[in-house]
Amino acid sequence: MKILVTGGAGFIGSQVAAAFCGGGHAVTVLDNLSSGKEANIPAQAEFVEADIASPQAAELVADGGFQVIDHHAAQVSVPYSVKDPLFDLHSNLTGLLNLLEAGRKASLERFIFISSGGAVYGELEGAPVDESYPARPLSPYAVSKRSGELYLDYYAAQHGLGTVMLRYANVYGPRQVPHAEAGVVAIFMDCLVKGEQPTIYRPDDLPGGMLRDYAFVGDVVRANLLALEQGSGVYNIGTGVATDTLGLWQAVQRAAGKELGHQFGPVRQGDIRYSALDCAHAKQGLGWAPQYDLDAGLAETWAWRTGQ
Ligand SMILES: NC(=O)c1ccc[n+]([C@@H]2O[C@H](COP(=O)([O-])OP(=O)(O)OC[C@H]3O[C@@H](n4cnc5c(N)ncnc54)[C@H](O)[C@@H]3O)[C@@H](O)[C@H]2O)c1
Repeated sequence: MKILVTGGAGFIGSQVAAAFCGGGHAVTVLDNLSSGKEANIPAQAEFVEADIASPQAAELVADGGFQVIDHHAAQVSVPYSVKDPLFDLHSNLTGLLNLLEAGRKASLERFIFISSGGAVYGELEGAPVDESYPARPLSPYAVSKRSGELYLDYYAAQHGLGTVMLRYANVYGPRQVPHAEAGVVAIFMDCLVKGEQPTIYRPDDLPGGMLRDYAFVGDVVRANLLALEQGSGVYNIGTGVATDTLGLWQAVQRAAGKELGHQFGPVRQGDIRYSALDCAHAKQGLGWAPQYDLDAGLAETWAWRTGQ
């Protein structure tokens, strides 16, 4: 198949692109390198450096003869989306529509859209939710991801485009970079390498901090491989297991075979308390289930982190 992977220089998209290349597909990566690195792009893939919202991107889709677009490129920061919602809108919706419109005219067959299960549902009540749970986006980033899904529903219904939407949980693994506000596994591993104690943010009534569903990147990549030919509509991609921040820090230390203290800090405004995804629908529709538990995924991530 001829596949365009947007965001294919980033943490997750580059590993999806590599898996597609490994499966014998002809892959083109479209990325503006705003956070991605050229070194991440698989050697077998063609690379076009451009913004997804640009006329150059529309031309690439119009002339490229792609059967599938796997769309990972996005403005990915929740705090940044709050600070500059217009920028988020431009990247995450104008960019998306630019690709969808060009694809529609070029008779694209399938569009795999990467959404966020950690964002679109908003605050949850303490049990994993399935895809029927109402979306209550709490940030411009979450609004743009949910709106992207609605656009895909429109292109599926009115233009017959094959669509798969993958709502990722909190993804971690090799190539994730430690940013100030995201990628907590990468941040914790960085702390261990530097010997600096991390701060665990927690509200008074959650002694271990906020709870999240952590999905290993290898499992997430496999969901994309399956979505090339199977499924339609929206799927949660996570583990269904909620781990609090303290539990995660303990698991990271176990994987590293090191112990370092930590301190606690007050909870950051807008942080969701609990998020976990029920993934039974992905098993049914994609034949997908996670294969890595937290300890196995962290062991692989630590091996990568210290092998650099
Ligand atoms: N990491 C997670 O936990 C997580 C969770 C849910 C959803 N997602 C989604 O997965 C996708 C990939 O995220 P990631 O964690 O790999 O982030 P990343 O920042 O590593 O990757 C994003 C890539 O997109 C590129 N990009 C950004 N804006 C672009 C634009 N306007 N035009 C062209 N390229 C652009 C960046 O240079 C980068 O290579 C995103 O859509 C993100 O919203 C990630």
